[in-house]
Amino acid sequence: MKTILDFQKKKANGQKITMITCYDSSFAQLISQSQVDAILVGDSLAQVMHGHKTTLQASTNLMALHTAAVVRAASGQFVVADMPFMSTRKGLKNSMDQVEKLMKAGANAIKIEGADGHIQLIQHIVESGVPVMGHLGLTPQSIHQLGGPKIQGKNEAAALKISNDALALQKAGCFSLVLECVPTSLASHITSQLSIPTIGIGAGAETDGQILVLQDMLGMNKNFNPKFLKKFMEGADLITEALNSYVTEVQTKKFPTKEQSYE
Ligand code: KIV
Repeated sequence: MKTILDFQKKKANGQKITMITCYDSSFAQLISQSQVDAILVGDSLAQVMHGHKTTLQASTNLMALHTAAVVRAASGQFVVADMPFMSTRKGLKNSMDQVEKLMKAGANAIKIEGADGHIQLIQHIVESGVPVMGHLGLTPQSIHQLGGPKIQGKNEAAALKISNDALALQKAGCFSLVLECVPTSLASHITSQLSIPTIGIGAGAETDGQILVLQDMLGMNKNFNPKFLKKFMEGADLITEALNSYVTEVQTKKFPTKEQSYE
């Protein structure tokens, strides 16, 4: 998948879209050898790569640095970069400067959380030739306003608001929409009412595609076990085992052998 047209084609053909987050060159290289359709350089990098408790600490410069690292190794794949906390809230010129930084770092598109106060901005970004991915439901940049990482759209009014926001984002020109932590029935309803593809995380199986945080699906963090997550391998165990084997072999002089030494 290389362009937004491929997203559209997949929805039209009823083929699921697969996305994964990535923040660095070494994983980007592995992903580019896989069948995953597209990469998100998510602001979740503030947590996964930099150890912060929330995504609020990500800055545009940090996002651009990680985006460039990913693009260098995944040059053939479609890469979306997140607009971080507050980067869209300080006026049009400032927002456009942030968009420019991410696109010049090599992103093919940007993602913006939430619809309120963003509709005109999204129209302007799209009119400037930059594809925009929307993001509704649990929007982690608003974690304090939402009262924590909770399922969104559970009552009728909240579901209607998300549903209307989805339509507004499509009208503004978004090429795709992430739905995070919403009931399956709501995600399914939004998916059927939109012509642009929906990408779900914690939104059930009816969305047009799925996205997961790479380190989460690789099982790198034993203490992170939300209901929506499936660990496709137990990475934490495998890596700890490898590290301990290395320690044992160094201590017992099994490594390095002649094979790994220069005569
Ligand atoms: O930052 C991120 O990783 C995201 C995905 C969870 C959708 O926004």
